[in-house]
Formats: sequence, structure tokens, C-alpha cells
Amino acid sequence: HAWAVIMAGGSGTRFWPLSRKAHPKQLLPLAGSDASLLAETVRRIAPIIPPERVVVVTAEHLAEATRAALPNVPAENVLAEPVGRNTAPCVGWAAAHVKRRDADGIVAVLAADHHIGDEPGFLTILERALGAAEHGELVTLGIKPTRPETGYGYLEVGEELGPGVYRARRFVEKPNRARAEQFLTSGSFLWNSGMFFFRASSVLDAIRIHLPGLGAALDRFDDAAKQGREQDVVRAEYATLPSISIDHGVMEKEDRVVVVPGDFGWSDVGSWLTAWELASKGAQNNAVAPGGSSDDVVLVDAAGSYVRAPQGKVVALIGVRDLVVVDTEDALLVVPRDRAQDVRAVVDALKARK
Ligand code: GDD
Ligand code: MG
Repeated sequence: HAWAVIMAGGSGTRFWPLSRKAHPKQLLPLAGSDASLLAETVRRIAPIIPPERVVVVTAEHLAEATRAALPNVPAENVLAEPVGRNTAPCVGWAAAHVKRRDADGIVAVLAADHHIGDEPGFLTILERALGAAEHGELVTLGIKPTRPETGYGYLEVGEELGPGVYRARRFVEKPNRARAEQFLTSGSFLWNSGMFFFRASSVLDAIRIHLPGLGAALDRFDDAAKQGREQDVVRAEYATLPSISIDHGVMEKEDRVVVVPGDFGWSDVGSWLTAWELASKGAQNNAVAPGGSSDDVVLVDAAGSYVRAPQGKVVALIGVRDLVVVDTEDALLVVPRDRAQDVRAVVDALKARK
């Protein structure tokens, strides 16, 4: 069977002040619809992977809100990490969980914070990628790069193995600017979308080879699960697991990585700039954020801006352009759209003050 593992433990600091510890970005509607990014992720794959086979890995303090956000996903499918240890432990634990329930299970590892414009196109590629994973390969989805982005991983595309399935010559996670520019001009590199497909047993084998400490811990989780005390062992041990991404810890080191290229309007919902790009725009290219109170936004000679008003408060913009204005009960953000990446600095500054 095909299973989905949704990684939903990030904090989304660039979406301050809406994104907070208790309401991180995956639980917010940031991609132009009223549903949260996480609920959208589950909904869009449902024609291929039903909610009963969706496993979500999140932080312990978010487990309850995550279950509430996904009423169709069984409660026991939400795995709660006592601390975040990056994506390798997250993927490993979820794969072990799936393997226990379905020894031949194939998992689609998805991020909770992606937007996909062309859903039928995505489902076609999803089926292709699941098929490519059947024989034990580690598969990723590649996206044609449009800029020398240094925040993504890159895949060098090799020979075609089957229709729309290629060998990945190498996987380079987050190159520096110069290398990213080379990759872009070479034409033979794709962005790694951050979605992975493999048999649960295959990724566990790869983890045992490349991250043996993690592999051994996962075996202890399995033993504990047999005695019905997995969460206790997870609580006791999780903080000691290596904090490393699946990209650096496994994919970069593997030589049997396969890439399925796709073009389905993918974007990583990384900052308020993306939220503006994805929102439906009214006159003068202004967007009023979904989930906020649209009746309470007043725009006079404003253009290209993204505005969110909290319930019961009026927000007015006059004679400004290309701004992000996000008001909440206890915090207000005003930032030029093209500096939305810097919002992270506010969160750092606030943390340093405490
Ligand atoms: N449960 C859990 N625990 N989830 C986590 C953790 C963790 O400790 N850390 C990150 N995640 C989740 C995030 O919420 C997100 O959905 C996903 O895992 C990916 O993590 P990011 O931190 O957003 O990774 P990235 O954006 O730096 O890089 C990855 O994605 C890029 C595409 O968006 C890599 O796979 C890159 O190669 C890729 O290009
Ligand atoms: Mg990301």
C-alpha cells in the first residue's frame, strides 16, 4: 500500500506574528484558501492515499491541535516528537511506524508547507513516483529551477530509467550562491522538492547504513512498541538522536537516488511574499489575507500589498505600495514585500530579549 508521511514539525518563524509556537505555519491558511496548509496537504493526496494511511509527525505540544485540524486522520497516526531533531529522525520514526503496520508499505514523504497549483498534474507525478519506489530506490521529485535559490537542494539528472524516471547523478543540499548559479545555467539540475518516495524498509536500510545510531534507536522504538510503551522510550531517547536532515543524512550519501521531474505549480510557502503571490488579488494587486477579517481592511491609494486584520479591528493603508501588514491581537508587522525573508530576525530579536 501507499502511505503518506507528512513532516509537520517546523515553526515557520518567517510568518510572525501570525505563526506562533502554538499556531505554526502549517496550521494556518497561508496559500490562498481558507484551509490550513496541513489540511490542504492531506486533502490533495486523498484520491491516491486515503487519510487512514496518512501519518503526521509533529511536535508534542502541537499534537492535539494537529489531530483537531485533521479529523479524518486516525489519532494514532499522529506521531508526537518530544523535541525536533530535524527530518532524518522524523522520517525514520514514521517509516518504522509504517513498516510495523504494513511490511511492504511504500511511503510518500511530504512537507506540510507546500502549495501545489496543478493538483491533477501533481497526482499523475505522485503515482509515477510511488511506482518508481517499488523496486527499492529512493525517489525524489525534481522541479525545474527558475532562480539560483540557495535554500533548496539540487539534483543532477542522469540517464532515463523508464518513462519520466531518471537516475539522479548526485544530490547537493543547499549549495552556495556560486554553485547554485552554475547549476541553474548548466540546465542539467533540478530543485529537490523535498518530497521523497521509498519503501519503508528501503529507507530504514539506508538509515542503518548512513546513520547507524538512529537505526539502532529505531529498533529500540520497535521493541518498545511491541510492549505498548513506545512513547515512553521515545520521550526518554529522542533528544539524544542525531539532529540531521534526511537530505544531508541519507539522500546526499546514497547512490541509488532516482528523480521524477514534475511541473505542477509547486512552491514552498516560505514567507509572506509567497503568501501574497498565492493570494487572490483585488484592485491594484492588493490581497486581503484569508482567515482575517476582510470587512475591516480599508485601502486608499494602496497597491501591491498584503493585509491581514484581526477580528474587530480596522486596518487602513493610504498611499503606500508593496507592503505586508499583518496585525494580530498582540503584535503588528509592517515590512516591504521584498524584505519578507527578514521577518525571522524579529523572532530572533524577541527571543534574545527574553
Ligand atoms: N516533525 C518534524 N520534526 N518535522 C520537521 C522537523 C522536525 O524536527 N524539521 C523540519 N520539519 C518539517 C518542516 O515543517 C517542513 O515541512 C519539512 O520538514 C522540511 O523542513 P524544512 O526545514 O522546511 O527544510 P528546508 O526547506 O530547509 O529544505 C528541504 O525542503 C526544500 C524544498 O522546500 C530540503 O528537502 C531541500 O532539499 C528542499 O529543496
Ligand atoms: Mg522548507
